Amino acid sequence: MQEKKISGFSKLSKSEKLRWVATHFAEDADAAEQELKCFWHEDEEQQRVFDGFSENTISNYFLPYGIAPNFLINGRLYAVPMVIEESSVVAAASSAAKFWHPRGGFKAEVLSTQKLGQVHFSWPGDIRQLRQRFPQLEQRLRTDAKHITRNMEQRGGGVQDIELIDLSNVEPDYYQLRVRFETCDSMGANFINSVLEEFGNSLKAFVAEQEAFSGKARELEIIMAILSNYTPDCVVRASVSCAVDALQGACPDMPAEEFAQKFAKAIRIAEIDPYRATTHNKGIFNGVDAVVLATGNDFRAIEACGHTHASQGGQYRSLSHCKIEDGVFTFWMDLPMAVGTVGGLTKLHPIARRSLDILGRPSANELMAVIAATGLAQNFAAVRSLITTGIQQGHMKMHLMNILNHLNAKPKEVKEAVAHFKDKVVSFTAVREFLKQYRKQLVPK
Ligand code: MEV
Repeated sequence: MQEKKISGFSKLSKSEKLRWVATHFAEDADAAEQELKCFWHEDEEQQRVFDGFSENTISNYFLPYGIAPNFLINGRLYAVPMVIEESSVVAAASSAAKFWHPRGGFKAEVLSTQKLGQVHFSWPGDIRQLRQRFPQLEQRLRTDAKHITRNMEQRGGGVQDIELIDLSNVEPDYYQLRVRFETCDSMGANFINSVLEEFGNSLKAFVAEQEAFSGKARELEIIMAILSNYTPDCVVRASVSCAVDALQGACPDMPAEEFAQKFAKAIRIAEIDPYRATTHNKGIFNGVDAVVLATGNDFRAIEACGHTHASQGGQYRSLSHCKIEDGVFTFWMDLPMAVGTVGGLTKLHPIARRSLDILGRPSANELMAVIAATGLAQNFAAVRSLITTGIQQGHMKMHLMNILNHLNAKPKEVKEAVAHFKDKVVSFTAVREFLKQYRKQLVPK
C-alpha cells in the first residue's frame, strides 16, 4: 500500500512517471509500459505540444475522428468533423444531414452573444451607500482593468455592462458584481476571469478608500471572481422545417403524416418527462460534444450550460421542440453556448486547427451554428429511429462489427456473420460461438 504512494510525482520525467505507474499499477509492467508508449507521437515536437495541454502525462488517449458530410446549414455545405467514441453517432448525423439536404437543410441563427461573469463578495455595509457611488465605482473598475480590456475592445468586444446585485436577503452580507462581456471569436474564459479578478481588487480598494464608510464598512471581502458557464444570452437557434408531405421517406414503412405526428409526440414526451428528457438531451449532446471536441472547445462548459438551460422553469426538459402547423413540420432548438475559433486549444491542437480549416475557418457565431445544427441532426436521427425501427437495429450492426474486429474476423467471416445476425440478437458470446462453428465447418475432416 505504502509503496503506491509517492511524493514529487510531477517532478519525474515522463518516462520515469510511466515506469512508476507501470511498475506499481500493472500486472505486467513491461507490457503496460510498452502499450502506453506505443501511443506516443513519433514526432517529438508534436508530442511536446500534446504534453503541454495537461499535467503528469504518460501517453496519449486516442479517439476516432470522423466526418459527417452533406450538412447544408444556412445555404452553405459543410463536412462536419466529429470526435466521438460511440458507434452510430457519426452515421446518424450523416443520415440526418442527407435527409434534410433536399428539404432546405438546417437554418441556424445566433440570437445573442453576451457572456457573463461574477464577482461574489461579502460586505457588512449599507448597500444603498455603494449604489449611490456606483457610477464612480464602475468608472474605477473599467479604468483599472484597461490594460486587460484594451485589446479586446480593439477587436470590438470588452466589458458591456456591470450590475450590482443584492442577495443579502438570501445570504447575510452577500452581493455580486454581475458583468456582461463580448468576447468576439474567442471563448473568452481567460479574458473574463482576468477582468473579474482585477474588478475584485479594485472593488476592495474602492470601498477601503471611502471616507464616508466607517469601521467594518471599509472591509469588503471578495469570496471569488469567476465567469459563469451559464450563458443564456449567448445562444443559437437551429431549426429544420418542411411541409409534412415532404417528410415522406423519413421512414419507408410509415406515411409522412403518421411519422410527423409520432415524432412530435416523442418530442412532447421529452418536454414533459425528465427521465426521457435526460436521454433525449444526451442524444443532442452526442452531436454537440463531438463537434466541440473536434474543434478544441470546452465540452464540459457547453454541457453544463445546456443542462442548466434545460432546467429553466424548475424542471429538466427537452432542449428541442417540434410543431406541426398548417401542414408544416418544424423542429428546432435554442442552445446557449460559449465557443471560440481563436485562442486556446483551437490554435494549438493540430487536429482542432484542421477541423476549423475543414469547416472553412468559421467565426465563433458560425461555429455555434454548425454545432447546434449537428446536435439537432443527431436528435432528429435518434428520435426517427426510436419511433420507427427502434434504436438497436443500427447499434447492433456497429456492435457486431466491433466484436468481429475484436475477434480478428476475416472479410469472408464478416460477410457471413452480418448475414447470420441480420435477424438475431448480437452478443459477444453469440458472435464468438458463430465464428467457432463457422471456422470448424471449414476445417477438412
Ligand atoms: C444514445 O447514445 C442516444 C439515444 O439514447 C438518444 C435518444 O434516446 O434520443 C439514442
